Amino acid sequence: MPEHRIGIIGTGGIARVHANGYRAVLGDLGSVVAGCDPDRARLNSFCDRHDVALRFETTDELIRSGEVDVIALLTPPAVRHEVIGPAAERGIHMLVEKPFGECLGDAISFLDAAEDGGARIAVNHELRFMPDALRTHELVTAGAIGDVRFIAHDQFQNRTTVGGWRATEKRLEISIFSIHLLDKLRWIAGKPPVSVVCPTRAWNADVAGETFASLTVQFEGGAVGTMVSNWHSPRVPECRLRVDGVSGSILSTKQAIVDGDATLRVERSDGGVETTAYRLKEAMAHTMGRSMRGLLEAVDGGGEPMHSGLDNLQTMAMVDAAYLSASRDGARVEIAEVWENPSAAS
Ligand SMILES: NC(=O)c1ccc[n+]([C@@H]2O[C@H](COP(=O)([O-])OP(=O)(O)OC[C@H]3O[C@@H](n4cnc5c(N)ncnc54)[C@H](O)[C@@H]3O)[C@@H](O)[C@H]2O)c1
Repeated sequence: MPEHRIGIIGTGGIARVHANGYRAVLGDLGSVVAGCDPDRARLNSFCDRHDVALRFETTDELIRSGEVDVIALLTPPAVRHEVIGPAAERGIHMLVEKPFGECLGDAISFLDAAEDGGARIAVNHELRFMPDALRTHELVTAGAIGDVRFIAHDQFQNRTTVGGWRATEKRLEISIFSIHLLDKLRWIAGKPPVSVVCPTRAWNADVAGETFASLTVQFEGGAVGTMVSNWHSPRVPECRLRVDGVSGSILSTKQAIVDGDATLRVERSDGGVETTAYRLKEAMAHTMGRSMRGLLEAVDGGGEPMHSGLDNLQTMAMVDAAYLSASRDGARVEIAEVWENPSAAS
């Protein structure tokens, strides 16, 4: 099997986690051969640390170099258009950090470009690869708790200090954090979303975007999902995922969604009880590696990765609907409305 040559665009904070994860998980499947960042000091520091020889200061140079067949796009959300279109034209496959785009309309255009160029895109919702999340999804899809009626996924954290590009993002909490929670809600529900209500609050005067969101989503078939994400929980950090089916319940508790330590409790109406304590070291890096491996295996095998760009359009539709609802003071928004006019929410 050929080894894929990966170029990392954006060698900032999250790039280090990706690089560590690829090294730990990919084996012969692929390795990082190039880095790209206009910030020369960051580029050199990253490439020196991870032993990457090829260094580019512009995305255009990296894309045209012919040295990579896969790109990991790890830049702030505004840097998507300049990479995805030109790379897709050359058939370069991409793992794109969340959010896939700044709005659903952008995401649709990126997917169109990928289809035209024969490139595959996966969106980095690596937290689906956490062991508690994988097990929950496996149990639900195997019918272990019967038809799903309710899913709740919440996170409470103290994240009042927000710096860098995040401080000026008008779409902040949902678009760059709880999009992970929404993606998992939808993945576990296994059905398209129908409507969303989502009041938000901008409680941090130093930043442009919202820092609290409380969302309810209704799925096709009647299941309901809720998500609360609060960046202003002074104490007792908590991330919980609860699924109630007709014949059982699943509860994962941990301190934060990125945490590898979790306790998963499954109780079935027939009396079956299963409690598992997960202790995954270097959890974030591990899941980044799994995420890239999913893309590379799909490229080699000719299939679609489970976190494909196509799949992600439904998550982006929920995000756009959430912002539209917030702009209407938390009123109900039909998902059909954002599909009819995908740029309306941007
Ligand atoms: N999946 C996750 O769990 C997770 C966690 C953190 C961040 N992220 C995502 O990763 C992305 C980057 O976040 P970060 O925390 O690493 O930010 P960061 O600011 O630490 O790093 C971003 C890097 O991109 C570089 N950059 C900016 N414009 C560029 C361009 N045109 N070409 C090449 N490089 C460019 C910057 O110089 C910087 O080095 C965001 O989309 C964010 O949402 C995902």
